[in-house]
Amino acid sequence: MSKTRKVGFTETVLRDANQSLIATRLPYSKFEPILETMDKAGYYSAEVWGGATFDVCLRYLQEDPWERLRKIRKKMPNTKLQMLLRGQNILGYKHYPDDVVRKFVEYSIKNGIDIIRIFDALNDARNLEVAIDETVKQGGHASGTICFTTSPVHTLEKNVQMVKDLKSMGVKSICIKDMAGIMGPKESYDLVSAIKDAVPELPLVIHTHCTTGLAFMTCLKGVEAGADVLDTAISPMSGGTAQPATETLAYALRSLGYQVDLDDKVLIKMADFFKGVRADFIKDGTLDPISMATDTQCLNYQIPGGMLSNLISQLKMMNAIDKLDEALAETPKVRADLGYPPLVTPTSQMVGSQAVQNVLAGERYKVVGKEIKAYCRGEYGRTPAPIDPDIQKKILGNTPVVEGRFADSLAPEFEKTKAELGATAKCDEDVLSYIAFPQVAMAFFKDREAGFPKKDAPKKDAPAAPAAKKESDLPPMPAWQGHVYYANVPATAANGMTSRPIQPFAASYQPPHLVMGAQDTCPGSYTITIDGKAYQVSVAAADGPAPAAAAPMAAAPAPAAAPAPAAAPAAPAPAPAPAAAPAPAAPAAGETPVPSPMPGNVFKVECKPGQAVKAGDVLVILEAMKMEIEVTAPVDGTVKSVAAAVGTAVNTDDLLVTLG
Ligand code: CO
Repeated sequence: MSKTRKVGFTETVLRDANQSLIATRLPYSKFEPILETMDKAGYYSAEVWGGATFDVCLRYLQEDPWERLRKIRKKMPNTKLQMLLRGQNILGYKHYPDDVVRKFVEYSIKNGIDIIRIFDALNDARNLEVAIDETVKQGGHASGTICFTTSPVHTLEKNVQMVKDLKSMGVKSICIKDMAGIMGPKESYDLVSAIKDAVPELPLVIHTHCTTGLAFMTCLKGVEAGADVLDTAISPMSGGTAQPATETLAYALRSLGYQVDLDDKVLIKMADFFKGVRADFIKDGTLDPISMATDTQCLNYQIPGGMLSNLISQLKMMNAIDKLDEALAETPKVRADLGYPPLVTPTSQMVGSQAVQNVLAGERYKVVGKEIKAYCRGEYGRTPAPIDPDIQKKILGNTPVVEGRFADSLAPEFEKTKAELGATAKCDEDVLSYIAFPQVAMAFFKDREAGFPKKDAPKKDAPAAPAAKKESDLPPMPAWQGHVYYANVPATAANGMTSRPIQPFAASYQPPHLVMGAQDTCPGSYTITIDGKAYQVSVAAADGPAPAAAAPMAAAPAPAAAPAPAAAPAAPAPAPAPAAAPAPAAPAAGETPVPSPMPGNVFKVECKPGQAVKAGDVLVILEAMKMEIEVTAPVDGTVKSVAAAVGTAVNTDDLLVTLG
């Protein structure tokens, strides 16, 4: 193979690096100034959309993801725009009917996408067919993807067979997606060689993460074996849980004699720009230093970049960060039980959440999320190896498993949903947003209709002293439907005054998703900006070992909550923290208390006082770790009282329901 071969680059800063390092919190307005420059860099493609960007735009950033895509398209007319699509899951966490998948692909391309990288978490080709077929029909470039993983059942032959299947479906390139950064130089060389032997005519892309520190070697050996394109991130947003640095690989490959068509001057401008972006996210705590570090544990645990940062922030939120090592050790066990699924969205969340639940509940598979149940029924596709039969039985009981391709059993949804939404949906794209994320999209539509609250938060380093503000200068706390679950400010705000935007939200928002960053808190007086208005709060250090930051703060769950001006600087903000809630009184004779099995939020209450229930009936649904957890009646009985209130945070052993 000639050394003068060309190696292309896919820039991931706007999608995967953004997602892996800063939980996709980069708003369009922040990166808009660099787009025209980026367009001149000479990339093979720029990954700008899909993955978590769609969800986060709607949920946190007050951005219509479709509009973001159109704006990027306009500013980058010369670069191929790429997105990541989860096959039959599109951008969500469940399987969608075929008509929805087709519409989603059609509108992605109509709004500006050139290349759709399509993967299935289980590498079940039946889940890729429809998305690939529609991409081809719409004139797009379908990139067929293999999720790289290692297990006793994942062999070179199996991967080569999958590539051949993808080729017959019409893909124009192949991507090896090493979402966990566990593919080493040897695996890379062997796998790329085998795939290039099987389908030499298809360009081969390597996607990896620096999590374990292997990425540069993996890329280099992959190129030596014939890989054509590498996924990289501009240096300030590279490394750690993100991709290897664009400039570093360009330099190394050029010095080895490969042709790299990137403009170094443009890369320097981009790096300068993103240094500023990185500094801002470090300052506000969104960029956790742990995400930037090399972590070789992943070689054992196979935790993808995004999953690791999510695990850390979710455990912090549950005040259980001390359980991280235990949760990481449990993860490969759960994965083996479930038939060795590759760990990638959504299976990474499912396996990770289940591992955490196994650890927090103190009993394996005592608490099982709805998604894991669906997985065990076969709704996600064929598992690489059979699920452990005892565990499957424990999870499913007598529920039958799905035969064949699950999407075949789903009725078309697009036209029906469009009719139901009526004037609420302004366009077909809105309908798709709603189908993908119903609650989040609906809240977004309402906010959009009302005109988004202004986001002009006071400048971060405004020298205003808290004492200088009169109470009357600050508006009263709004009586929203929802609550501040946990507010937090960076310890760098030593002057006692900073601002931190908290997204406004409706009751339908799911509290666990609202946490923006997590780091140590310093007690003091702060201004928190909500809805573009500044509120002054004071944060007191909690007694005992739990830091104040860990306690959900200032719960104001309902409009009925006292709209007391939060301006009273002396008011200790950490109002009733669930952790500190008094233990429920000992149950009266004949009563059965049903406690929460784990920390989470009450998502739905499915029972009423006076209702007769049977053992196993669902009483309450919690949301924890992005999963729905059903809490069931331990015995037959009558619901005596319901302590759980929708939208409130609960801790392990907090009383939910009392059966009489
Ligand atoms: Co990735």
